[in-house]
Amino acid sequence: MTIIVTGGAGFIGSNFIFHMLGKYPDYRIVCLDKLTYAGNLSTLAPVMDNPNFRFVKLDICDREGVYGLFEEEHPDMVVNFAAESHVDRSIENPEVFLQTNILGTQVLMDACRKFGIQRYHQVSTDEVYGDLPLDRPDLFFTEETPIHTSSPYSSSKAGADLLVLAYYRTYGLPVTVSRCSNNYGPYHFPEKLIPLMIANALNDKPLPVYGKGENVRDWLYVEDHCKAIDLILHKGRVGEVYNIGGHNEMRNIDIVKIICKALGKPESLITFVTDRKGHDMRYAIDPTKIHNELGWLPETKFADGIQKTIQWYLNNREWWETIISGEYQNYYEKMYGNR
Ligand code: NAD
Ligand code: DAU
Repeated sequence: MTIIVTGGAGFIGSNFIFHMLGKYPDYRIVCLDKLTYAGNLSTLAPVMDNPNFRFVKLDICDREGVYGLFEEEHPDMVVNFAAESHVDRSIENPEVFLQTNILGTQVLMDACRKFGIQRYHQVSTDEVYGDLPLDRPDLFFTEETPIHTSSPYSSSKAGADLLVLAYYRTYGLPVTVSRCSNNYGPYHFPEKLIPLMIANALNDKPLPVYGKGENVRDWLYVEDHCKAIDLILHKGRVGEVYNIGGHNEMRNIDIVKIICKALGKPESLITFVTDRKGHDMRYAIDPTKIHNELGWLPETKFADGIQKTIQWYLNNREWWETIISGEYQNYYEKMYGNR
């Protein structure tokens, strides 16, 4: 079994590669990644010497390059994590989101059609469903919830989802799609809420909470997401969408307070800043389908997962300090300087 994992030098893709190489010692994993600002080769250091692993620096939009790799590797499966993934960046500069997330997805699926494939899996997001109101805790996203996006990021992911399902219906490409809620855990890029707050708190810097901090996200430990994708690849039904989430809704402000407490830092570091444009209020996944059909359930409770995550950032300072000392400084100044 040869699996091409795109975006494997990023947060979830790298965790997925570690999971797959650990669980299936006879699988060959080929990581295809452009190494954008969000991709880190150092993240993959633990598997670089594994004879079942190969890293290829490539853009998923590079049709010739992608076809060349398929010709060499003849993959049985493709799991597409490669994407521009940060909502705030999509508000500043939407174009690269459309390019990578939609057109890049198309190139990968065309390669699958040309060379033949057992499965193409699209890693998508609950953000394609838009948001839910805070005063309706009875509402959840199911696979039937209409697509109703808010940001350029979520719109590009929705566009890709629709294209993937169209390739199934039109060409019979054997696809699956998963839509997961917010992940957290090791190797999470420090522009995102949880690692940003951990890094800032450790450096005694202000903790910038958007708006009133009342927005709710449904947090899932990254390993649980990787296990769900593994199950979908092996047991999921072709042409189907599976929602992934663990009923773990938290307000942003409460997460930031948990981080302050765990690190022994004062809550006076919390600074309320101008809200994100079009900010989604609440995400909440109904995971009934993946539970009933594939037996998936999350294994890590938030109380344990967040402590493990904080400990990981304490033990791996070099990883994130290297990231935030470079180009990230300009990004941070631009996004938070006058906020
Ligand atoms: P990330 O930003 O940490 O990593 C993205 C990776 O993709 C990086 O390694 C980057 O170099 C690579 N990449 C970007 N453009 C590329 C291109 N044109 N060609 C090849 N590689 C490219 O993202 P993440 O948080 O790990 O998210 C991975 C996937 O999961 C994305 O598709 C995202 O939409 C989806 N997702 C993320 C979350 C979450 O909470 N982080 C939740 C649900 C779904
Ligand atoms: O729901 C899945 C999505 O989760 C994924 O598809 C995206 O790729 C991923 O980035 C994530 O999107 P969010 O926008 O929910 O994540 P982010 O970490 O950027 O923000 C989480 C919440 O915290 C959101 O309500 C905005 C808020 N926030 C974020 C940052 C970076 C702050 O209050 N302050 C901040 O500095």
